[in-house]
Amino acid sequence: MMKPTTLADLSQLKKEKRKFATITAYDASFAHLFAEQGISVMLIGDSLGMTIQGFDSTLPVTIENISYHTRSVRTGASHAFLIADMPFMSYATPEQSFDNAAALMRSGANMVKIEGGDWLCDTVKRLTERAVPVCGHLGLTPQSVNVLGGYKVQGRDDSSAQKLFDDAIALEKAGMQLLVLECVPTALAQRITEALEIPVIGIGAGNMTDGQILVMHDALGITARPPKFAKDFLKETGNIRDAIRLYIEQVESGAYPDQAHSFN
Ligand code: KIV
Repeated sequence: MMKPTTLADLSQLKKEKRKFATITAYDASFAHLFAEQGISVMLIGDSLGMTIQGFDSTLPVTIENISYHTRSVRTGASHAFLIADMPFMSYATPEQSFDNAAALMRSGANMVKIEGGDWLCDTVKRLTERAVPVCGHLGLTPQSVNVLGGYKVQGRDDSSAQKLFDDAIALEKAGMQLLVLECVPTALAQRITEALEIPVIGIGAGNMTDGQILVMHDALGITARPPKFAKDFLKETGNIRDAIRLYIEQVESGAYPDQAHSFN
């Protein structure tokens, strides 16, 4: 009988230095296909604002949208470990985050993801105390696109790199159990991955993190103008199942992301 994937399984992979592939999923059919090919961790990302709803940012996404898609993904992948994104302004205060996180957990999520640095320590602590595991998201945090001035690589200079490092340490101390690092130089991602006990999942963060995540539309060549780190695995294989298996193989072997799909 199939066993549900847990955070303990991911920690064990980190201990054994075995890399793992994860992907975004938004519906039951793709979630089922991804699980069948061997992906056991999926993110119901607020990227659905762009990939599903056609907006130019993640800001219009609501908690109801993420709940709806989390329920669909759970239906297709009953044993997968599901991370659901808390959308823009749904965790502006710790109190506000409680009902919103509860809605996502009730929809089938195993964990919620929130974007931001040490200002979120109190929220992480209080959600964790209330039985909601939290995944952090540092580096390029798309909900902050208007503050960051665009979708840009983060942590390129010493002081911003140190700030990202300090944020990661502080959030882990507060109770964060998984971290997504987006669009940061490989060396910084490696430094953070080695310093943290919890698993670190990279996207545009080089191949030294414990796991990788890709937006499914990037991995399958659907995105019109894909980011530098994205790779179209469907182009190489010609069918979706083989594309997902190739993605998993290349993440596990460390072949993806190579230099051409990383920032230095
Ligand atoms: O929303 C999303 O899909 C994400 C990934 C890019 C990590 O946060």
